[in-house]
Amino acid sequence: MTILEERVANRRTFAIIAHPDAGKTTLTEKLLLFGGAIQLAGAVKTRGEQRRARSDWMKVERERGISVASSVMTFDYRDKTFNLLDTPGHEDFSEDTYRTLTAVDSAVMVLDGAKGIESQTRKLFEVCRLRDMPITTFINKFDREALDPFDLLDDIEQTLALDVVPASWPIGMGRNFLGCYDLFNDRLVLVAKGKDNHMDEGVTCNGLDDPKLDELLPADAVQKLREDVEMARGLCPEFDLQAYLEGTMTPVYFGSAINNFGVETLLNGLTEAAPSPRAAPAAGRNISPLEDKVSGFIFKIQANMDPKHRDRIAFMRLVSGHFKRGAKLKHVRSEKTLNIHNPVLFLAQDRELAEEAWPGDIIGIPNHGNLRIGDALTEGEEIRFTGIPSFAPELLQKVRPVDPMRAKHLGRALVQLAEEGAARTFKTRMGSDWVVGVVGGLQFEVLADRIRTEYDIPVNFQATELYTARWVECDDAREMKKFTDANQASLAEDHDDAPVFLARNSWHLERAEKDWPKIRFLKTKEQSA
Ligand code: G4P
Repeated sequence: MTILEERVANRRTFAIIAHPDAGKTTLTEKLLLFGGAIQLAGAVKTRGEQRRARSDWMKVERERGISVASSVMTFDYRDKTFNLLDTPGHEDFSEDTYRTLTAVDSAVMVLDGAKGIESQTRKLFEVCRLRDMPITTFINKFDREALDPFDLLDDIEQTLALDVVPASWPIGMGRNFLGCYDLFNDRLVLVAKGKDNHMDEGVTCNGLDDPKLDELLPADAVQKLREDVEMARGLCPEFDLQAYLEGTMTPVYFGSAINNFGVETLLNGLTEAAPSPRAAPAAGRNISPLEDKVSGFIFKIQANMDPKHRDRIAFMRLVSGHFKRGAKLKHVRSEKTLNIHNPVLFLAQDRELAEEAWPGDIIGIPNHGNLRIGDALTEGEEIRFTGIPSFAPELLQKVRPVDPMRAKHLGRALVQLAEEGAARTFKTRMGSDWVVGVVGGLQFEVLADRIRTEYDIPVNFQATELYTARWVECDDAREMKKFTDANQASLAEDHDDAPVFLARNSWHLERAEKDWPKIRFLKTKEQSA
């Protein structure tokens, strides 16, 4: 095995998807603990709060108790290196979440045991399904009253149309939660009362008939465990690694993240089964992680936490090759060479200067705005990665500076924010108004706050009559010109100067689609590359 092959085989890049409050933050914290990345439970939140206190624009985030900014956490466990990409849970920021999911190879779906599949779990799952992504399920909060495990399995199977296989089985719940039986490794793992840092040490058993179980558990609990597992084995298929990797089957773990129970069993499962970095789709061919030449794509841009600096960090997923600090990479869109001399890796304690990185790793590249979402960096080849979507905004508002003299400055700020992926911005052909489009309403507040604090431009957002936006394309330039001439009042340009049709209502859009059959009205625009 070459070093590259070995490093690729040992990487696990994943995200956690969950409805808010299911326990994503708690689980993240415990996973990091196992990786030795942080010393104390609670550190993720504390650090988060300290960081937030520093930046004014994140006030919105503090007030609402949601996480606006995603980050990357790297930790080692056994012989594997895990990259955990955090995704904001609030549905208003789903666009950011969707993009982050383009940079991972698998996902852990966390459910609240008392609630099962919730609205946001379902939406996020649909995005994973589009990419046939392997999903591991963790059903949390079994230290509280929860739904019956059979009903939970049924809920996942029915709601998500996914084959389910219990990987562990809970023994009791709430006050009577005694532990789990690890079905993949035949181990009994009991809740250790009064122990803070729980390890799922467990006792290896010789199947469920092992008399050890009768010694370690009350008689009624053993009997129920044996009956339940027999029934579950009768109802569910056997674990099939291939089906899991193709995204059609999910192994299900039970536990209680807050008590650190079941987390190690889950982590062992990910270590063994979760996929190593996959090939990335690109125009013309797929790029294998084992290719020697370095390549990667930008999936997220984050404004610097310090509002006085215009610096940004572009998050690049390394797709192939062995990256070393100081590498000169071609920025395919601008055809310029970038010298990556100060990349950052995101270890949980702090940002660290990256000396090297391997496929599946995420590298932060500080820049002044030249890098955009969807951009490719390579060792020379003109690669265009595909499948990093830009979504049609569902909410559109006009934005004006409080001081009309600042209109030009506002225009520049909006273009920068659009390049960063924080919103879509359109300049109307008639009237030259700025229209901002977002996927979730809360984004308007965050934007107004950022434009005021980072660019020093107080602005007002105003409701519009607009319904939605569609990027327009046509293979026939003459037809395109006819269309644009006839629809000047409904046309705008996005920050890349791509033409956009702004529809007043659904009828207006349907009518235009009918009248102009040669024009394509696109809901998503793949990021320019
Ligand atoms: P999220 O990131 O998915 O939104 O969820 P988070 O981890 O913040 O957890 C949401 C709430 O659920 C928190 O309580 C957390 O303590 C609790 N929780 C997480 N895992 C478990 C579990 O296994 N069992 C029980 N009983 N509760 C759990 P909170 O009161 O909202 O916040 P906090 O004051 O505890 O931080």
